[in-house]
Amino acid sequence: SFMSEIMGLRVLEQQLQDKLSVRSAIVVPGNSDSHEWVKQEMGKASVAFLKTIIGDNNTIAVTGGTTMAAAARMMTALTNQGDPLFVPARGGIGEKVENQANTIASEMARKANGDYRLLYVPDPLSESAYQSIIQEPSVNETLQQIKSATIAMHGVGDALTMAQRRKTTDAIIQKLKDNHAVSEAFGYYFDGEGNVVHKVRTVGIQLEDLERMPYVITIAGGKSKARAIASYFKQGKSDLLITDEAAAEQILKGN
Ligand code: BG6
Repeated sequence: SFMSEIMGLRVLEQQLQDKLSVRSAIVVPGNSDSHEWVKQEMGKASVAFLKTIIGDNNTIAVTGGTTMAAAARMMTALTNQGDPLFVPARGGIGEKVENQANTIASEMARKANGDYRLLYVPDPLSESAYQSIIQEPSVNETLQQIKSATIAMHGVGDALTMAQRRKTTDAIIQKLKDNHAVSEAFGYYFDGEGNVVHKVRTVGIQLEDLERMPYVITIAGGKSKARAIASYFKQGKSDLLITDEAAAEQILKGN
């Protein structure tokens, strides 16, 4: 029945909180590997949660990906007053335009009646280009807004899936394999224990910045992402996991 289905999801949420040591978890029905609408359900849940925490002068940093793109589709007006500001969490990290953080930030801003700032940086970025690009006043100003974001919303990917999607070099793919990379978030690749084994160089939020961010919201689902989600939660900061039933069940099985 509907009621026992809901009760079952609440039990999964409790168990996930314990297993991943996360303060809150929200589980939506289904498996986003096989149904696109499940990503939109996770997106809806994220918008509903945002409404409970949004105050004045919030800056929301968002990552790219198909899950975040689905969340953007579900965005609705967040407040009556106090425009939220949307910014991309990090500079271009190899996504198609529709799944880029810039695109998602601008779409969310439009639907939430907010504002946005974008970040245009080449990817990948050499050390010298990085050093000079962060001196650019327009980049620097956006960077300060990103670093002082009050809310981060981000996806998590399977490490090798993300590396291939970004057309990562063979040498780096080999490095990821040698170091048993399992997950990827914010351009960082993590092993099964949550250690960073590789990092994409780009401007924006660094892992350390998350520690002082009031709310980090992780959105990731699908049975195929269970190991990746568990790996991110070994070390990565997050206050809320929004996932689906298939990922939750697989995580609880211990993969
Ligand atoms: C990317 C983010 O855009 O999306 C990654 O930069 C994240 O950090 C990935 O892992 C998730 O993508 P998807 O399509 O699985 O939601």
